[in-house]
Amino acid sequence: MRARSTFRALLNFLLLTLSVALAGCGGGVNSPGAISNGQPDPGIALTQVRFKTPPLGWNSWNTFGCKDTEAIIKSVADAIASNGMAAAGYQYVTVDDCWVGGRNATTGQLYSNATTFPDGIAALAAYVHGKGLKFGLYTSGGTNTCAGLAHGTRPPSYPPGVGAGSLGHESVDAQTFANWGVDYIKLDYCGGSLTAFPAMRAGIAATGRTMFLSINPYSANTTLPTNFASDGTLYVPAYADMSRISQDISAKFTSVTSIIDTSAADVAWAVPGYFNDMDMLEVGNGMTQDQDTAHFIMWSIMSSGLNAGNDVRSQSAATQALLTNANVIAVNQDALALQAVLDTADSAGSLQVWTKPLATTGTRAVAFLNRGATAAPITVNFANLGLSGPVQATNVLTGASLGTVTQSLTQTVPATGAVLVKLTGTDPVASNGPLALQSWVWSAVQSGNVAVKVFPNGSPLPTGATATGAVVVHGVSYIDGLTVNAPAQLVYRLNGKCTTFQSDIGLDAAAQGGGTVDYQVWADNVELYDSGLVANATPIKTVKVSVAGRNTLRLVITDGADGVTNDVADWANPSLACSSS
Ligand code: GLA
Repeated sequence: MRARSTFRALLNFLLLTLSVALAGCGGGVNSPGAISNGQPDPGIALTQVRFKTPPLGWNSWNTFGCKDTEAIIKSVADAIASNGMAAAGYQYVTVDDCWVGGRNATTGQLYSNATTFPDGIAALAAYVHGKGLKFGLYTSGGTNTCAGLAHGTRPPSYPPGVGAGSLGHESVDAQTFANWGVDYIKLDYCGGSLTAFPAMRAGIAATGRTMFLSINPYSANTTLPTNFASDGTLYVPAYADMSRISQDISAKFTSVTSIIDTSAADVAWAVPGYFNDMDMLEVGNGMTQDQDTAHFIMWSIMSSGLNAGNDVRSQSAATQALLTNANVIAVNQDALALQAVLDTADSAGSLQVWTKPLATTGTRAVAFLNRGATAAPITVNFANLGLSGPVQATNVLTGASLGTVTQSLTQTVPATGAVLVKLTGTDPVASNGPLALQSWVWSAVQSGNVAVKVFPNGSPLPTGATATGAVVVHGVSYIDGLTVNAPAQLVYRLNGKCTTFQSDIGLDAAAQGGGTVDYQVWADNVELYDSGLVANATPIKTVKVSVAGRNTLRLVITDGADGVTNDVADWANPSLACSSS
C-alpha cells in the first residue's frame, strides 16, 4: 500500500512539474490559451481579523423590550460581574432599542432619553466599564429605530425623537459612540438603507476606536433573500463582524430550529473574522430545560455570538449553570472558529448530527440534536467525519468521559434536546504532493459538493468529495483540482509539517463565461493571500504562499460581492510541500 502511494505521489509530482514547465512556455498540457506564467501572484492587501472568536455578552431586548432603563442596565452589569458570567467570558452589556431621546439640531448628535437614561450614555458606559465589562449600544440604519417603526411599541411617555436612527449620520454617530466609550454597536435596519452598514464601518474606522459591529439586515426587511445566497444586494462579511441571518427569535423551540436551518444555509459565508449571528439567546425565558440546553449547544457549536437575553439578575440555578458552562463556551470560543455543519440526519430530518473540528488536531465537537417529540438514539459514524480511531469521547456539558470507542458513538437524546460530545481521535493530516487527493477536515459550500479531479484517474477520492471529469480554466485542462460553487471553504490540518501551498486559480469552464469570486488563503486565522476580484476574463493566476509552522490551511472562495450566479471556481493543481515526518 505504502509503495503504491509513494509511486503515485512521484508520478503526480513528475506530471505536475511537466505541466507547470509547459505552462511556463505558454502552452498547457492539453490546450493552449490563457495560462499562468508560473509567477506567484502578489494579490491585494491582506485582511486583518478584528475579532477572532464570536462575542459573548448580554442584550436588553428579549427581556425588557422598550422598558430598558439606566437603572436596569446598571443592575444587570452588577449581576454579570458578580454571578460568574463575567468569569465565564460574558463581556458586552448591550443597551438595545429605546434609549434615544433625540438628535440635537445644532450638534447633530444623538442624546439619551432624559426620563429613562437621565445620566446619559457616557456615564452608563463608564459604570459598565467600572465593573470590568464592555458596553454595547443599539442604533438603526434607518431614519427611525425598529421600535419607532416596525413594532409600534413606542411608549406614549417617550418624547418625540425616541426613534432617531443613524441613516445619513453614521460618521457623527460612530464618533459620538466612540466618545461615550461604546465597545459594540448593534446596527439594526428597520425601514433603513443598506448604505448604512458600510457607512457605519467607515465611521468606526475613522474614530480609531475598536468597536465590534453587529448588524441586522433582516429586521423588517422584506426585500432581502432569507439568507446570503443572495442576489448580491449585500456582502456583509466585508464590513460587519457579525450579522443576523434571520428574523427575530422567540422563546419557542420552532424558532430555535428554524434559525439553525437558516444559519446552516449561510455557513459558507462565515469567513475568518465574521460570524453568522443567530440572535440573542432565549435561555431562561420559558422553554424547557432540554430546549434551553439544545438552543445553547447549537448556538455554541455553530459559532454564533452568545448574547444572553434573559433577566440575569433573577435567573434560576439551572439557567445560570447552563449559561456559564465553561466546556460548552470553549466550543463556541475555539480558536479555529469554524461553524458546525450538518453531518447526517434521519429521513424525517428530526434526528441530526452536527459537527465542527476544534483547534487541537484530532478533536471534533459533535452535537446530537433531537428535534422530535420523543427521546431517541442518534449515532455518529467516525468515518463520515474522516476521523479514525480509537476515539475518546467526552460529554461536554457534564465533563463525563464516555470512554474509548471505535467506528461510531450513539447517544440517547431527549425530545427537543441535544447532547454535545467532544471526540479525540486521529485526523487526516495533509502531506507532500497534490492536494486533490487529500482529505479536508471541514468544508462549507454554497451548493452541491466539492467536485474533485484526482490523478491518476481512479485514485481514492477525499472523504466527502464528488468526482468530476475535468477541471478546466480558460481552456486549460488541469491534471487534478477542486471545483466548487462559491462561496466555498475547505480546511486542512497541516500540523506544522508543511512549508508551501501552491495552486492555479480561476473560474471554471462551468461558469459559462460569467461569475466573479475572490480567492483567499488563510492559515491559523491569518490571511496569507487575497486575489481581489477574479472575473471570468481574469487570466489564470498562480498562488504560492509559505505555510511554514502553520497548523491549519483554510482555502476560501467568496462570491465576489455580486451574488452567486455562475460562481463556479477552481483550485487547479493545488499542492503542498511538506516534510514526511
Ligand atoms: C428588531 C431587532 C431586534 C430588536 C428590535 C428593537 O426587531 O431584530 O433584535 O433590536 O428591532 O426594536
